[in-house]
Order: sequence, then structure tokens, then C-alpha cells
Amino acid sequence: MFKDKTILLIISGGIAAYKSLELIRGLRKNNARVRCILTKGGSEFVTPMSVSALSEHEVYTDLWSLKDEREMGHIQLSREADLIIVAPASANLIAKMAHGLADDLASTTLLASDKPILLAPAMNHMMWNNPATQDNIKTLTHRNIALIGPVSGEMACGETGLGRMGEPDDILCAIQGFFYDRPLNGLKAIVTSGPTFEPIDPVRFIGNRSSGKQGHAIATALVRAGADVHYISGSTHLPPPSGATEIKVETAQEMLKAVEHTLPADIFIGTAAVCDWTIDQTSTHKIKKEGDPPQLILKETSDILKTVATHKDRPHLVIGFGAETENLKENATNKLKRKNCDWLVGNDVSETQNVFGQDENQVCLFKYTDDRKDITYEEWDRMSKTRVAQKLVDEIIMTFEQTNRDNIHDITDTKNIATQ
Ligand code: C5P
Repeated sequence: MFKDKTILLIISGGIAAYKSLELIRGLRKNNARVRCILTKGGSEFVTPMSVSALSEHEVYTDLWSLKDEREMGHIQLSREADLIIVAPASANLIAKMAHGLADDLASTTLLASDKPILLAPAMNHMMWNNPATQDNIKTLTHRNIALIGPVSGEMACGETGLGRMGEPDDILCAIQGFFYDRPLNGLKAIVTSGPTFEPIDPVRFIGNRSSGKQGHAIATALVRAGADVHYISGSTHLPPPSGATEIKVETAQEMLKAVEHTLPADIFIGTAAVCDWTIDQTSTHKIKKEGDPPQLILKETSDILKTVATHKDRPHLVIGFGAETENLKENATNKLKRKNCDWLVGNDVSETQNVFGQDENQVCLFKYTDDRKDITYEEWDRMSKTRVAQKLVDEIIMTFEQTNRDNIHDITDTKNIATQ
């Protein structure tokens, strides 16, 4: 997978450093040349010996080592890499990158680099959520530095939250995306993501459960494939997908408006958990708790997916999502027909599947055949949301390659007819 590619892996301080050993193993297994820089903090968690043994190369640790400077300076280390990965990326190294500090080999190499950089942050959830870290992340994503993770779960300190480093397999998946030859270059994609919130009054709302992780992963994979991605998202805790244009919305109505404003596009993917109903008359003041509970009158929201799929500027490929708690196959097939989309990603969100807010998903892909007479169905294994996104984007790439081939045939056929 990574033949002839050189990956520079920077391992900074954090308990997640042990996962980097597995990452090196995965990179080597896929034929990448791996060079490693181990920061002082990183070497508290993994030894230079194990990093060197797995990467089958010496490890770089010291900016001032004469030997390093003569034989492999930090400039050359960054120049010979096709991609730089920082995993784990500590809050400290992220802060140094955001502010252009260069006081050790890792930060100096990063500052001297003109290569794509992928960060896999890992830290305590409070450190991740701290506005200082969030501001630094925003600065870095605006500079087109890509992020994978962090994910949520239990941490080494015993607390639970968002801050765990992504799994090595997900990082490998993100790396794979980096080495595409931008197959979706020139195509515009719209991805809706997250929940919509429908206000009851200025402080209360009804909403859907959605972390936005699946839509975020899809937008990220599309950016890597070279598409011009417009990410229209309801309220989530995720940073904007690096390289995408993010439009933040709150209600279904705002989401529809943003989508219509962004059309035309080549691809539409509706991962958003759009509320099916909104409050008929939102109160302009906070409804008092005293007295009888308010009788909320609901009205249906517009179906964004259906609107796009029947629009005069209908994208070439319209993909819907369908969360079901029962009869997945039957309901998903009906939804595909009813909403006039081309593909529908169905997922079982019954309690047994434990999908909401998790980093894994188990989906089935329903597709209309080209003549739209039949529907095919493929069940995917349970896998990370990053892998689901990558697999879906790989399918999209194949579809557009096929369309291009067909178009070329059409032109050739027309020419043949013309010359007959
Ligand atoms: O009908 P249901 O909500 O299950 O359909 C799910 C699909 O339709 C998702 O792709 C979702 O983004 C989209 N949807 C929409 N507008 C709505 C409701 C759902 O675009 N009002």
C-alpha cells in the first residue's frame, strides 16, 4: 500500500505512545520506509530501542547531535518524507506548532517542513477541551494540517472523555487517503452532518441524538480524495474537518437553506440527523415552569435529502443515511425509493448495536443499479467510522471513474457515428 513512500513519524510524550509501535508495525507491513523522531517526553513511554527495532532504522532524538546534523539534519529529515505524522501529538507539541516554536528536533523539523502533516492528538479530555488547545487546533487546521481523532473513551488517568489517540488502523486508513492522486479533484461535494435543534423557546429545544462523527469522517475522506467539500453541520463538539468549508447551522430550515445555497454540486451526502418535526410556534420568551406543561404543536420539517434528490440542480450522486431500529433491509430499501437517492447507507441503531456517539459503525450499503430497476445490498463488517468513511469514498471514486470511462465511450461512439 505504501511502497516507495517515506513516512516520518514523530512520537511525542503520552501514554498513547505505545500505540505508535503498532502503527510502525502497520506501516512497515505495508512497505513504507519509516523514520522516527522520539521527543524527550516520548522516550519516557517507549524506548528508542523498540522504535528502532520496529522501524528497522535508527531513531532521531537530539537536535544538537553532531552526527545527526551531519548525516541527517532536521531539514533533510523533513525533505525526504512524503508525509509527517505526529502520533501521539501532545498538547505541548500542538501548542509549539501553532506558535512556531522550535526548541527540539521534533518542533524544528515540523517548522522546517513543507510536507503534508497529519496529527493524532492524545491527551486528557480537559486538556483537549481547554480553549487554548482548541484555539491551537483551529490555527493548525486553518493551515491545512490534518487531524485524525482524538476519539472518546476511557483514559489512562481513569477519566472518560474526548482525548484518546485514534487507533493505529484508523491512522493507517487516513494515511492511505493521503497518497491518493486526488481522484475527486474538480468535484464539489456537500456533506450534512450532526443533529438539528428545533427551538421551543430561547433556552429549550428538541433535537436528535448525533455526534456528527460519521459525517465528519466522510467529509475528511472526501477532502483527502481531492473534492471541494462543503460541510454543513448542526451543533457538535468536533472541530471543522481540515480542508473543508464549514457552514454551521442549528435548525432543519437553516440546514436546508445552506444546502440549497451551496448547490449545484456533484455529490450530496446526507449524514445529518435532521429533526423530522419542528415547533409550530416558537415562544420568544422562556416558557414559565409554573402551571400546566405547554402543549407543543409540531409541524413537519422539509426533507432535505428528498429536496436535493428531486432538485433541478440534482447532484450526480445523492447518498442518504437511514438509521433504523428494526427491519433495516425493508425500511432502507423503501427510503431509497421514497427519497429518490442513488445510494442509502443503512445502519441499525437499536440498543444492541451501540452506535450513537461511538467510534464504530455497522452499516449496509443499498444501491440502485444503473438502470434503476433493481436495488443491490451489501453488508459491511462492523468497523471504525473512519474506515466506513474511507470505504464509502472508495466506492464514490470508483463510480466517478466508471462515469468518466462511460463518458469517454459516449464521445468515441458519437464520433464513430459521425464519421460513418
Ligand atoms: O426519514 P429519515 O429521517 O430516516 O431519513 C434519513 C435520511 O434523510 C438521512 O440521510 C437524513 O440526513 C435525511 N433527512 C433529511 N431531512 C429530513 C429528515 C431526514 O435530509 N427532514
